[in-house]
Amino acid sequence: MSPKKRTQDPAKVIVIENQKGGVGKTTIAYHLSCYLAEQGYKTLAIDLDGQGNLSSRFLDRSKRVGGCRSVHLFNDTTPDLKPLDTPDGVDLIYSIDRDVELFNVERMDFDKALINFNENLDPMLDAYDYIVMDTPPAHGNKMSAASITSNYIFVPVEMAAFAVTGVESVLETLAEIQRYVSDRLQVTGVICNRLRPVNSHTEALAELNAAGVNILTARLGTNGAVDDALRDGVPVWKNKRTGAQRETAKSMVSLMQEICGYVGAKIQPPPAKAVAKKSGVTK
Ligand SMILES: Nc1ncnc2c1ncn2[C@@H]1O[C@H](COP(=O)(O)OP(=O)(O)OP(=O)(O)O)[C@@H](O)[C@H]1O
Ligand SMILES: [Mg+2]
Repeated sequence: MSPKKRTQDPAKVIVIENQKGGVGKTTIAYHLSCYLAEQGYKTLAIDLDGQGNLSSRFLDRSKRVGGCRSVHLFNDTTPDLKPLDTPDGVDLIYSIDRDVELFNVERMDFDKALINFNENLDPMLDAYDYIVMDTPPAHGNKMSAASITSNYIFVPVEMAAFAVTGVESVLETLAEIQRYVSDRLQVTGVICNRLRPVNSHTEALAELNAAGVNILTARLGTNGAVDDALRDGVPVWKNKRTGAQRETAKSMVSLMQEICGYVGAKIQPPPAKAVAKKSGVTK
């Protein structure tokens, strides 16, 4: 069950975007939504990618019926449809797999798509603490609509790509995103994914820093535990059987905590039992 709304303020909208494919957008959007819900925030995840990857992490295809689909947010009038409940405690506005209608949003008039999305999102702002949007790997109406409604934008980048394209590609990505968002918004931070302790990655990080890019301190390595969790349908911190899984859990939680710092989400202290155990206090 999803938590109750904690604050009276309108929801804060967090968008995960990069027009490059396979950089970790969906992985981060999924974990962030689950983490915020676990911290007691009423959280809505919106899957704006017609591949339906984020939706399938929350709900099997057979359970994605009825309720509000993300394509509805682009309609002139939205029927009174509710987001779906998920076992992770996150509410979901979903995409079906290969959602042709959602792909076709790219053919809509730009202004109309943005106005409709903004209007349809409005009631959700009163109902949630946080709204996390996963976006498709392409510039267009959906990425623009998400960006324009956002309070925070995080851009995951794949460090391995630097070996081929260099850091200019990240700087170009950020510049392109900036052209798409309104003046009031800047990219909040870049998230380094699949970082390895090799010279090319270390040098690329230094170059990005030198270019004034705000890079989050917490980074993710390449780890099979990310796909283990995908297979098991849980966030990585729920899989702690192996050392590699525990390590991955630790780095993902550090990343989530850092993002929470940016978006003003308070992290709950660990349960009293764990604290007592840690400090050697026994009953
Ligand atoms: N740090 C990581 N270590 C290992 N595997 C990872 C890592 N990050 C992401 N992956 C895996 O890489 C694949 C692509 O990640 P993801 O789907 O999150 O990227 P994306 O940017 O959303 O892709 P798309 O642009 O196609 O939507 C997934 O199988 C995911 O589980
Ligand atoms: Mg994705």
